Amino acid sequence: MSEHFVFPVPASALEGTHCTKEQYDALYEQSINDPDGFWKDQAGRIDWMKPFTKVKNASFSGDISIKWFEDGTLNASANCIDRHLPERANDTAIIWEGDDPADSKHITFSELYEQVCQFANVLKKRGAKKGDRITIYMPMIPEAVYAMLACARIGAVHSVVFGGFSPDALAGRIQDCQSTFVITADEGLRGAKKVPLKANVDTALEQCPDVSSVVVVRRTGGEVAWSEGRDVWYHEAAATVPAECPPEEMSAEDPLFILYTSGSTGKPKGVLHTTGGYMVWAAMTHEYVFDYKQGDIYWCTADVGWVTGHTYIVYGPLANGATTLVFEGIPTYPDAGRFWQVCEKHKVNIFYTAPTAIRALERLGDEFVTKHDRSSIRLLGTVGEPINPEAWLWYHKVVGEERCPIVDTWWQTETGGVMISPLPGATDLKPGSATNPMFGVKPALVDQDGNILEGATSGNLVITDSWPGQMRSVFGDHDRFKQTYFSTYKGMYFTGDGCRRDEDGYYWITGRVDDVINVSGHRMGTAEVESALVEHDLVAEAAVVGFPHDIKGQGIYAYVTLFEGAESSEELRKELVALVRQEIGPIATPDFIQFAPALPKTRSGKIMRRILRKIAENEFGNLGDTSTLADPGVVDDLIENRQNK
Ligand code: WTA
Repeated sequence: MSEHFVFPVPASALEGTHCTKEQYDALYEQSINDPDGFWKDQAGRIDWMKPFTKVKNASFSGDISIKWFEDGTLNASANCIDRHLPERANDTAIIWEGDDPADSKHITFSELYEQVCQFANVLKKRGAKKGDRITIYMPMIPEAVYAMLACARIGAVHSVVFGGFSPDALAGRIQDCQSTFVITADEGLRGAKKVPLKANVDTALEQCPDVSSVVVVRRTGGEVAWSEGRDVWYHEAAATVPAECPPEEMSAEDPLFILYTSGSTGKPKGVLHTTGGYMVWAAMTHEYVFDYKQGDIYWCTADVGWVTGHTYIVYGPLANGATTLVFEGIPTYPDAGRFWQVCEKHKVNIFYTAPTAIRALERLGDEFVTKHDRSSIRLLGTVGEPINPEAWLWYHKVVGEERCPIVDTWWQTETGGVMISPLPGATDLKPGSATNPMFGVKPALVDQDGNILEGATSGNLVITDSWPGQMRSVFGDHDRFKQTYFSTYKGMYFTGDGCRRDEDGYYWITGRVDDVINVSGHRMGTAEVESALVEHDLVAEAAVVGFPHDIKGQGIYAYVTLFEGAESSEELRKELVALVRQEIGPIATPDFIQFAPALPKTRSGKIMRRILRKIAENEFGNLGDTSTLADPGVVDDLIENRQNK
């Protein structure tokens, strides 16, 4: 695939666009040269209770302090709901599409208002207050959104944990942020399969004695165990509280949410986002990147358990008064045409999904797509991992009928919202490239020593100045924040991604350069999987690497060394897989486990992952320099017994 393959902005994308090429150039320039002026204007998207006087106060050196709009006050839920009521009370805020295609409903802004106020009152009545951390472990039902906005309304900090995580993973996240409240449902429903959410919470809470309140939404009506006093049914509690709850006045730098994400070392980190800058960033990027116009039906297929769900299902679209579609199910149920059936049913205009879903659906054949009417779709988007040009072209041709621009959006949990992306009316597209920076974003490529590289080149991607949506800290561990993001290259935010810039200045993200792998768009620290494996009594040591996987983007390959005298077996392999699923969840299931008598190490005892990666990629003809290995013989055995043949 040549990178000279260019798709110019189609005339249809120019109609009523928020941003043409000329406007992009002018606004980008202003955002860099006059950030205070630019962001003062952009902050006008948000309703402030008390206006700010100071725009930006951020430093990437020393203790790393990031503040935006710091003396302003606001409430995120009021921005997503209350301010739309005067003109839009009866417009649809949320279209909910259930797992079963017969199940769907529309929720207006005035219904959303009542539901969120009621939810907020239930939390308050049970003692929740400003600053408390509330864990949300929910299926994709409207109550998940109500719960998030209810926390925001009373100034509590939500920590949403993806419903696919195991009880152990949930417990770790509850403990880390000392959360005393959990919101969950009896069961989730995905592809007609039940997910035992309440039972998982019960198991997790055996390790979390400080949780005093569990609010349970009834979804399936399945049997659940009950802890009197601690557990309460949401519908019962809601019936006793008013549907009015004034929004708490929050300072711009008060925390809005914590979201756990994997890094290259240690346990997942609690990425902390605050209120003012995040809301401005979410609203602005949602409008420009999706060229959102009032009345558009907008669908992001992510789960609210990930940052994409936070910013582009909940906060961005609702801040803009958009109709946001919340989908409970999976792309292949009842059949592989589900996405397109839903687009047809609800006349979706903007569709945003992950490359892994595109690749999986492409395999199942065009007919699932073409049998549904997609004429309402005007714009397509992707997020979460690099999209290979083949999948991009299929998405463009078959799904988008060659009419729809594709926005390939690069960003991270840490960045709060989109950082590098085409804008539909402004950017000529190149399949596989996230193209140009968003306003206010100053990307740079650096070499190993942190020297900034100019022109067409490859390097590690850093951002050299603050933007409003940036994470402010790691919850409870500011040193880890400094260490992880600002110590590799002094004075710059290090993304952990490698990147190439072409002769037109377009950015092409090449993937993680640290020990983080990206499996179906889900971030996973290899260290987390390794620590799950070594929990097993027979395992002495484990090393986990990623390898290219046709659908998942990357798969998980684990090398395991057993203690002297322990025997490897199929049985043990199964136990290890089960252990990883128990410690983390099904998304971390290893694709291959290779038992190895020893791992390749340097003389100082460091595991040489470069070699393990090559073997997992089946590229052992090209292992590079192995002369520093303590015992080069180890490698022959690894190659001989590789699993990925
Ligand atoms: C990767 C998801 C290439 C990248 C919003 C990043 C991408 C990590 C893209 C963050 C893209 C995300 N092209 N790579 N368009 N979008 N990534 O925190 O490696 O779950 O660092 O945030 O996903 O994943 P996270």
